[in-house]
Amino acid sequence: MIEQVNDIRQQIADYTITTKEQLEEFRIAYVGRKGAVAGLFELLKNVPAEDRKAMGQELNGLKNLAQEKFQTAQDQLESSQSQQVSPEVDLTLPTVPNETGSQHPLSLVRQRIIEIFARLGFNVADGPEIEEDWYNFTALNFPENHPAREMQDTFFIEKKGPGKDILLRTHTSNVQIRLMQNQKPPLRSIMPGRVYRNEAISARAHCFFHQIEGLYIDENVSFKDLKDTLYQFVRELFGQEFKVRFRPSYFPFTEPSAEMDISCTICKGEGCSMCKHTGWVEILGCGMIDPNVLENCGIDSKKYTGFAFGMGIERIANLKYRVRDLRLYSENDVRFLRQFENA
Ligand code: DAH
Repeated sequence: MIEQVNDIRQQIADYTITTKEQLEEFRIAYVGRKGAVAGLFELLKNVPAEDRKAMGQELNGLKNLAQEKFQTAQDQLESSQSQQVSPEVDLTLPTVPNETGSQHPLSLVRQRIIEIFARLGFNVADGPEIEEDWYNFTALNFPENHPAREMQDTFFIEKKGPGKDILLRTHTSNVQIRLMQNQKPPLRSIMPGRVYRNEAISARAHCFFHQIEGLYIDENVSFKDLKDTLYQFVRELFGQEFKVRFRPSYFPFTEPSAEMDISCTICKGEGCSMCKHTGWVEILGCGMIDPNVLENCGIDSKKYTGFAFGMGIERIANLKYRVRDLRLYSENDVRFLRQFENA
């Protein structure tokens, strides 16, 4: 019987398995319950008792050998199958370069501004671009037929009568109203979005652009809080070395109102075409929320005060990236957009 064992051991060693069919044939011949090894186990009962143990060990060794060979061959077949490539693929061809995209400069600036205000405790809110007159004007203290409405050339969609006209929002201040109506103070939000004005398109004006609005309402909010917040913002965005100044201004929805300038980032205050040779560039409008506006939205103006501000994202991107023509932002010229790959 030992000869038979050796014979089968040799057969197993010599067996080549390179296909699935061969693997199956091998399994039936040596591993399966009707295979040669199982057949030898059948004969074990005829072996004299004193040799049976030794023979049993031989047979177990043989069984393991067959199983190991089967397992290894099966693993190899499976892994080579998963690596198999169809003959049409020529692995020696050079690869097609994988071009990386870039974020739009306005998205980069918007994201940076959101980050800075997030650290000051402001969350982000959103509102509609197609808006009712009441949210865009009336609730913000622009009375009907008041000349302040002419400050912003409006695209009207539908004329529906006083306070009801449907229009494209001219600023993100509409979202202030929606927030004040829907939430209770304290409120601390910034509101990025696209706005529209009926202006001739040129290097300095466009019929749509982007703003970020800010709103902070709580008890005892003062003009000092407004200044602190905006100083901090400018320092974070542009760096320590820029000077900031507030000029008195007028907006119907704030009282007092101001505009904030920073020393020109291009000429460092010496005078250039970006700052119209003044050394200063206006970057935002701001002020203490007019009590009328709070009351229009159902907030008690005796208990709460607040400040608001609004800035143009394009203006800030111009300063950060020295862009001199607003039209570049919406032309999708890849030569322009590629320059922001690593920004
Ligand atoms: N909405 C103004 C504009 O588009 C900007 C502005 C000024 C927003 C003062 C404000 C603010 O919230 O307080 O010109």
